[in-house]
Amino acid sequence: ETGFITLDDGYVNTGSTTSKITYLDGEAGILRYRGYPIEQLAENCDFVEVMYLLIYGELPTEAQIMDFRKSIRRHTMLHEDMRSFYDGFPRDAHPMAILSSVVSGLSTFYQDSLDPHDPRQVEVSIHRLLAKLPTIAAYSFKKSVGQPFIYPQNDLSYCENFLQMMFAVPSEPFHVDPDFVSALNLLLIVHADHEQNCSTSTVRMVGSADANLFASISAGISALWGPLHGGANEAVVSMLEKIIADDMNVEKYVKLAKDKTSKFRLMGFGHRVYKNFDPRATIIKKACDTLLAKLAIKDPIFEVAQRLETAALNDEYFIERKLYPNVDFYSGVIYRAIGIPVQMFTVLFAIGRLPGWIAHWKEMQGSPSKRICRPRQVYTGPTEREFVSLEKRG
Ligand code: SDX
Repeated sequence: ETGFITLDDGYVNTGSTTSKITYLDGEAGILRYRGYPIEQLAENCDFVEVMYLLIYGELPTEAQIMDFRKSIRRHTMLHEDMRSFYDGFPRDAHPMAILSSVVSGLSTFYQDSLDPHDPRQVEVSIHRLLAKLPTIAAYSFKKSVGQPFIYPQNDLSYCENFLQMMFAVPSEPFHVDPDFVSALNLLLIVHADHEQNCSTSTVRMVGSADANLFASISAGISALWGPLHGGANEAVVSMLEKIIADDMNVEKYVKLAKDKTSKFRLMGFGHRVYKNFDPRATIIKKACDTLLAKLAIKDPIFEVAQRLETAALNDEYFIERKLYPNVDFYSGVIYRAIGIPVQMFTVLFAIGRLPGWIAHWKEMQGSPSKRICRPRQVYTGPTEREFVSLEKRG
């Protein structure tokens, strides 16, 4: 089922595995969660419904979603002693480092829900993680700006709650902008799963050793942090800001991306699977347009992103290599519009991807043929040779 083949030196391509969660067709630009097209889910669902669909396999009934929301709300607070974790980090610590550390730390405070073979414990750890990740993330932002941590408010929706923990301050009333809530809801839905991507494969790999859910997700967060993966959304905005500062010289950076000696890549472009377009980028770009028009925001980042896309899509190098904007290319524009600081962009990706990671971890744990993931290799090192003592070495 899960074979491993070795390609060039040191590159192991973990072979295909079977899964019932997400289907994607890179040529046709199709993405479906449990059979439902991403476009319909983005249009009609809220993020908590999509969480339920990914983890339990069906869209919830009225009663099921009510119970699910109620259970998640019970777990939104962090154990008070966990707040001291944040004292140990420097103010400028990257929030992804804090996220992976604190998520792994959950296994020290919630030791009653670590057994991956006890369905009741698994259920509790899933709801705890879904509920607490936004709180952990918002606390990391408050730490970075020296503001007091804001407790979750359980009369708010999942996205409203996260935004109020991020931006409310004790000294003033806080109003959650409904446009920001719907934009965030859409972004979290389109990030929620993407079959065997790098971070999801990491969660499956670590979970296959019977590591608890918190430890497995912490490993996935670390993998997502990589700039070639989830970290790309942060890198896209840094790249676009650089182009703006360089007189919007889009052509110069398209040229640089084609020059192999430059090592520079157009962040937010290209994808291992999508070779025509990333359906999520299409959805996000449209949402970008709508939100910026509604808020009457003229963000130069959006303008330079569109110019860069047009220049690249008309360039032989990108056309030949089938390099198109991916999920990360426009997401940062929306995050900026709703006030999320750039160093939190990949954290938002992690909040979105959490239900997908959990669904895959659960599917792997429950598989009758589950075994520890143990890639094999083709050895290409030296053949057997005799030991040479130190004085005899050249
Ligand atoms: C995500 O797997 C998933 O599903 C991931 C994800 C998810 O939802 O989980 O979709 C999320 O990670 C999206 C990708 C975000 N990363 C970036 O935007 C970083 C920039 N993109 C790339 O580095 C690259 O396109 C990857 C990593 C996304 C894909 O890498 P591949 O498939 O290994 O492609 P490659 O490195 O083999 O490149 C093929 C060719 C090479 O040129 P040649 O050697 O053939 O001459 O295309 C070139 C590359 O140099 N190339 C680029 C490029 N991406 C690939 N050249 C310039 N700019 C780029 N962005």
